[in-house]
Order: sequence, then structure tokens, then C-alpha cells
Amino acid sequence: MANLVRAKISALGTYVPPRLLTNADLEKMVETSNEWIIERTGIRQRHIVDKGVATSDLAVEAAQKTLQERGIPATEIEAIFVGTVTPDMLFPATACIVQDKIGAKGAWGYDISAACSGFVYSLQTAVKFVESGAHKRVLAIGADVMTSIINYQDRATCIIFGDGAGAVLVEPATDDNYVIDFIHEVDGSGACSLFMPGGGSRNPTTHETVEKKMHYVHQDGQAVFKYAVRKMAEASEAVLSRNGFKGSDVSLFVPHQANKRIIKSAADRLGLKDERIIINIDEFGNTTAGTIPLALESARQQGRLKKGDLVLIAAVGAGFTVGATLLRWAC
Ligand code: UT7
Repeated sequence: MANLVRAKISALGTYVPPRLLTNADLEKMVETSNEWIIERTGIRQRHIVDKGVATSDLAVEAAQKTLQERGIPATEIEAIFVGTVTPDMLFPATACIVQDKIGAKGAWGYDISAACSGFVYSLQTAVKFVESGAHKRVLAIGADVMTSIINYQDRATCIIFGDGAGAVLVEPATDDNYVIDFIHEVDGSGACSLFMPGGGSRNPTTHETVEKKMHYVHQDGQAVFKYAVRKMAEASEAVLSRNGFKGSDVSLFVPHQANKRIIKSAADRLGLKDERIIINIDEFGNTTAGTIPLALESARQQGRLKKGDLVLIAAVGAGFTVGATLLRWAC
């Protein structure tokens, strides 16, 4: 039976810290060059936090902007889901910290660890709670302070990541503009390609884990690259075709911003021209769970996202996790 209730994104808010880390800054830190970084990734700069600023701080800013846009108090929020791999601490969940800081007294929630797919997984979780009728106003957040787990002596990873957050409010749809469908996949055999080995129950924190740099991101860049190109396109094609759409029907493709070359390859396979793709990796780098809402905000600011537009979101991240969402923009 068709869903009686559909869910829509009714507001969007994002936040990046003001401080910049440019390619020129990185040239002074590791053996790299502005040209290499731009050519291989498309990144020119990233926003990074000052010492002491945590993921919940960015998430709270994004959540508050979302509530302001919708014009409702935090007490109206019923649940909060935070996609992040850089929680303020292992527990309690960053969702709990956000709930308290924004004053969402009636909300429950939890964190979702899906790396770069963290926002799309949070979004779908929010959508399902609204579609089921359990809730009417849910916040889905993607937020990461990647600089807290990056080794600034490892040129293969430190040039990629930045810090940032975005939030959306999910509510019951009132017209044809709603979240249409999604495809999520996990391939845990990819766990060894992108991970942080230290600090969990497998390798609890010791002097040795710190000395062995186990509390930093470890990445097999090429393995992730190949998987991301293939899966971003496959999941996108699948969610389009099972809903009777083609690439040419998409008004805006909003891909996870990991590497400009990954985005271009996936878009080529979907037959999408540049004017249908949003790319802001040059400005923000890879903010992990923050990239999709930040890209939606960039599109909106450029006047490229309007009510009724068919939007295709796609992400691939550590896990491996894969997520593609198809929706009609509603705000
Ligand atoms: O968000 C999800 C997670 N992450 C991703 O999606 C990342 C996916 N992977 C990538 O984006 C790319 O693989 C990287 C950007 C990480 C690396 O680009 P690449 O084109 O795959 O480079 P590579 O690892 O094949 O390295 C090519 C060369 C190597 O030198 P040799 O062996 O050819 O002499 C590297 O040592 O580039 C060298 N290299 C660098 N040179 C200057 C690697 N990093 C750098 C650097 N600056 N920062």
C-alpha cells in the first residue's frame, strides 16, 4: 500500500567555522603544492575550527539557523539524528548534546555513524519517522570536525578534509514536493580502506596507540576513489530508474564532495551536464557528513535550487556506506 504520509525537507541551515586553511598553508606543512591539490581533488581551501570547538558546536549553529528559517522554537522538535564520525566524545551521543544546547526539551535522538553517508542516512531516518506518523518535526544533521582526527604530517589525507555542518527539518509533505525514494547499501569488506583504528574497543587508547598514530584517519585513497566512482553512479541510476526517471530529468545532482574527479565521473555516467551539478569542494573541502547540506545551501545561494526541482543526492563513505536519495525540493 502506498504511504499515506510523505515527508519533505521544510528548512535548511548550515555552518562552517570562519578560519581558513588554504592550499598555500598546507604547502608550508607537508610536501605538496597548490597545483597538485587543485588538479587531483579540486580543493582550494577548507574551513577549520579553532582549538576547543567541537562537532556539537557546529551542529547547534546549523540547527538554530534551520529553526529560524522555519520560524519555530526548538521545543517543537520531536527527534534529532546526527550523522557524524567525529562526535564530541564516544558517549553520550552528540545528538543528546545538541538537544540540550538548542533547548529541544521534547526531543529524543541518536548519532548515526556512516561517515560521508552520515547526512543521507540521518535524513532517511528522519523521513521514515515522519512517514510512519510517529513524528511531525524531526531534525536531520550532518556534522564533522574532521581536523580533530587528521594527521597533518600525512599529505595523502590532510589536504582533503575540512570542518562543517548542516541541518534540515523534516515534516509531513502538504503537496507533491517530498522525499520520493532512497537506496542505501553497505559493503563492510571496505572497512579496511578508510578507518580510524584507535580509541574503540579493538584498540583502546594507550600511549602506544597514540605513538603509532592510530587516532588519525587511515585511507587507501585509490581503493576509495574507485569504489566511490562506481557506487555513486550505480546507486543514483538505480534510484532514478525504479522511479521512472532518467539522468536528464534531474534538475540538480548533489553529490558528496570528496573529490571533483569522483563527482565528474559519476555525473558523466549519469549523463548530467555541469549546469545540473553542484560542486563546492573548492571552498569547503570534504567535510564528511557536512558536504550534502553545504552543497544544497550553495545551490540555493546560487539560485539553482527551487521548489519542485527534482534533486538527486548521492554519497559514498567509509564502511563502505552508500546512499542515494531522490526528492522534490520543498522549501
Ligand atoms: O569522502 C570519502 C572519502 N575519501 C575519498 O573519497 C577520497 C578518494 N580518493 C581520492 O580522492 C584520491 O585518491 C586522493 C586525492 C586521496 C589521492 O589522489 P590520487 O590521484 O589517487 O593520488 P595517488 O594516491 O595515486 O598518488 C599519486 C602520487 C603519488 O606519488 P608517486 O608514487 O606517483 O610518486 C603520491 O605520493 O601523488 C603523490 N601524492 C601527493 N603529491 C602531492 C599523494 N598525495 C599528495 C599530495 N601532494 N598531497
